Amino acid sequence: MATSETVLQVLSGGLPCPYRLDPFSGGVNSAPSFCSDVKCGRNRGLVSKKFNNRVRLLGKCTSRGVGAVKSCGKVKCAHRWESMRCKCQKAESFGGETANERSPVSLPVNGVDSATNIFERGSFALKGKEETRSIEEEAWDLLRASVVCYCGNPIGTIAANDENSGSILNYDQVFIRDFIPSGIAFLLKGEYDIVRNFILYTLQLQSWEKTMDCYSPGQGLMPASFKVRTVPLGSVDSATEEILDADFGEAAIGRVAPVDSGLWWIILLRAYGKCSGDLSVQERVDVQTGMKMILRLCLADGFDMFPTLLVTDGSCMIDRRMGIHGHPLEIQALFYSALLCAREMLAPEDGSADLIRALNNRLVALSFHIREYYWIDLKKLNEIYRYTTEEYSYDAVNKFNIYPDQIPPWLVEFMPSKGGYLIGNLQPAHMDFRFFTLGNLWSIASSLATLDQSHAILDLIEAKWAELVAEMPIKICYPALEGQEWRIVTGSDPKNTPWSYHNGGSWPTLLWQFTVACIKMNRPEIAEKAVRLVERRISRDKWPEYYDTKRARFIGKQAHLFQTWSISGYLVAKLLLANPSAAKIFVNEEDPELVNALLSANPRRKRGRKGFKQPFIV
Ligand code: GLC
Repeated sequence: MATSETVLQVLSGGLPCPYRLDPFSGGVNSAPSFCSDVKCGRNRGLVSKKFNNRVRLLGKCTSRGVGAVKSCGKVKCAHRWESMRCKCQKAESFGGETANERSPVSLPVNGVDSATNIFERGSFALKGKEETRSIEEEAWDLLRASVVCYCGNPIGTIAANDENSGSILNYDQVFIRDFIPSGIAFLLKGEYDIVRNFILYTLQLQSWEKTMDCYSPGQGLMPASFKVRTVPLGSVDSATEEILDADFGEAAIGRVAPVDSGLWWIILLRAYGKCSGDLSVQERVDVQTGMKMILRLCLADGFDMFPTLLVTDGSCMIDRRMGIHGHPLEIQALFYSALLCAREMLAPEDGSADLIRALNNRLVALSFHIREYYWIDLKKLNEIYRYTTEEYSYDAVNKFNIYPDQIPPWLVEFMPSKGGYLIGNLQPAHMDFRFFTLGNLWSIASSLATLDQSHAILDLIEAKWAELVAEMPIKICYPALEGQEWRIVTGSDPKNTPWSYHNGGSWPTLLWQFTVACIKMNRPEIAEKAVRLVERRISRDKWPEYYDTKRARFIGKQAHLFQTWSISGYLVAKLLLANPSAAKIFVNEEDPELVNALLSANPRRKRGRKGFKQPFIV
């Protein structure tokens, strides 16, 4: 493995050249000229360098004032200095309007210019002659204004474009998970380049050395977020270059590795192919390698007795301590979905037979485990209530030794007579009975839950609308941890106070996954009801990241405004409801082969004695 400051690999080939303003290029929608002959395995074609734990993709754009030559690998493109003004140009090209018609152009900061000041924040509805912009139009403008460019190519969207926020923290970065709804919105709009670029650039980040206090996590890890930085070149007066800085958790609050990033990346890759019809991206050698690296990391043998992925607290959307370490449902649903997506995309070749076998085995075991042991409804709850404990045997009913006293009083009231859900986590002697929304919704989308379970989850959401949706969709989890439990589990986290942020806060971005789940179950009217709720206030409230209180009445205490995934989540929901069949690009239908495998390999059968020969007769 290379060390800092070491040039790892230098390959010639076309780096993504700025094409947007290049009068000689094929226009705004022409594909960037990525390294064409991608034969490379690990470093995959781009000229790359590791420097002080930052990734420098030396396809950097160096600019030296008007008329400067931009160097992109070997390719030199005549460029004007203004080509660094990525976002305005992007907004223009996406929107079909010219930026100049709307605003003065401003310089980029972190790869994003302040194009948002082309709109007067929060005043979309009342501009000029009482011009009323629809919420959707406003959302598109905001989404386009959040686009980040690298070397003139759109590669992602920043987490929040809240210029009035006192603490930006890392919200000026492109988060992998946050980009998913943005990417899908662009895909559904037929704007594919940004997603293609995102997939390929984040892939470049994957294989870089990442260390924290001399320790490196697994090779396939995808970053939580990255940032485009424009820095002076040093050698030449006023010349600058753009650098991608990736964060794999080494800088993140709590230093948690984002397990979900790679899983989302695979899901987006499949959606890109399905939506654009361009399968050349998933067929690339480097993309296949990247996918396998993620899979190998997830499928690696460990000490586990369970097929579920064992992760630390905060390794997904809930990215700080909330008592979700172990085998949280969200990760399992994404894992299952990513395995199915990868299986569709992996090129059959001798070298991957073992991987595909491991993947298939895991799918069967994982779906059995979740469907059987995570599922809870009134009947199951009553069974747990009457569990016998301390069963030492291979065929125990209460396999995980759950003490009935663990059933929390709130659950007895909460569980409707019709409906059920998958619990948040299962560990030896511990069931986390909290309802986690994303895990449940993605279990529906990915068919990790059975058809009956999927309907039951939606039944429960309908029955418990006042608790789970209330005034703004939708609670990240239910109920909130309070008092001593909050103190112990969150470590007295002042951001995760009861009914705020990750601790029972309401997150509008979840609307898109909710819509996917409702459409898959042919119950779009439930999602429509939620969209109507969102439309009542989200624009007026300036697109907050989350809402607080039991009924989601307040804008979150520390919520960022103009949060991109709140905006794109809404847009995806609208686009899908207008064209429900488009949801196919990310749902996974129940695989009949898998069901058969599950039946024939039924783990519920008595522990077998296959091959066991009684050595002697007594
Ligand atoms: C918060 C959320 C996380 C999200 C990030 C950027 O940390 O918990 O899921 O990715 O903000 O929006």
